[in-house]
Amino acid sequence: MSWDYTQKTKDLFLAAVQGREGTHLGEIASPDGVGEHGSIVCGDALKLTFRVEKAANPLDDVIVEAKYLTFGCTSAIAASEALCTILESRRLTPIQALSVTNADIVDFLGGLPQQKIHCSVMGADALEAAVFDWAQRRGVDLAAAGVKRGEEKLAEDEGRIVCKCFAVTEPYLRRRIQELSLHTVEEVTNALKAGGMCGACRYAPGGIQDILNDIWGAEAAAVAAPAAPAAAAESPFRRAQRINEALESVRGNLRADGGNVELVDVKGNKVFVRLTGACATCPGAQGTLAALVEKTLRERIDPTVDVIRV
Ligand code: FES
Repeated sequence: MSWDYTQKTKDLFLAAVQGREGTHLGEIASPDGVGEHGSIVCGDALKLTFRVEKAANPLDDVIVEAKYLTFGCTSAIAASEALCTILESRRLTPIQALSVTNADIVDFLGGLPQQKIHCSVMGADALEAAVFDWAQRRGVDLAAAGVKRGEEKLAEDEGRIVCKCFAVTEPYLRRRIQELSLHTVEEVTNALKAGGMCGACRYAPGGIQDILNDIWGAEAAAVAAPAAPAAAAESPFRRAQRINEALESVRGNLRADGGNVELVDVKGNKVFVRLTGACATCPGAQGTLAALVEKTLRERIDPTVDVIRV
C-alpha cells in the first residue's frame, strides 16, 4: 500500500537513501551518546549516535552532530532524519534535547499518517536512551540536574510484558500512554506498535484496553464503547459497506506486516473473510482473526458477528 506521506517526508527519505550531503544515515565513530530503540524482529529499529562539543562543565556540552542507523520504512528513515536535523540545528545540550518530543518530529515532517506515528516515538525513545548514555559517560547526575528520572527511567520500564509480539512491557505502556495522552487501543498501536501484530494483547485481561481503562477510567471506557448497531434498518449493501469500513481500520496493522484481509461475503451475522499476503501463512492468523478482526467488527458493527475465514 502507498501511504499518504507529505512531500517533505518523501524528500527526506530519498535524500537519505541516496546519501546526499547533509543527511545523517550512518554511525558516529566514538560517539558521546548512543541510544537504541525497537528491534529488527519487530520490524523497526533505530540506533542514534551523537557527538557533543565538550565543555568544562559537562552540563554545557552541546550536540553538534547526530547520525542514525534505521531498519524500517520510509517514515522511520524520514523521522530519523528529522530528529538529527532538529538536534544539530538547535545546538542543544543533551539535557535540553530531552525536550524534543515525537510531536516535534511529526511537525518537522509536516505530519505523518496515524499508523506511522510510532516512527516518531521510536526517535524520541532512542534520543532519551542516548542522553542517558551520554550522562553515564560524562558522569552527569541527571536527577541532580533536574531531570525527573534518569537512567532509572529505562530500568523502570522493565516489567510484565503485555504485548509479546513487540515485547512491550506494562510500565512502558503506562508511562507512554500518559505522556502521549493516548486514549484508545488504536492510538496505542499507532504510537507504540503494541497490539499491531496478532492483536491478542488488545482486549485480553490485563491487556491494552484494561490498562487504558485503569489510567483514564470511565473516559477510556466511553471512547472504547461500541458504536450503536443499526442493523435493523440497514440494507445488506450498507451493512457490507460498514463492515468493509471497519475492516479498513485494522488493515493498516496487517499491511504494516505484509498482510491484509479481504471481505468475501456477508450472510446475516456471518462475515466471511480471506487473509492475504503474510497473514495467509502466518501461524498466528487465527488469533489475528479472533482478537483483532472479529473483536473490531463486534465493537463497531454488531456484538453477534462471527468472522469465518475462507
Ligand atoms: S501480543 Fe500484542 S500484537 Fe501480538
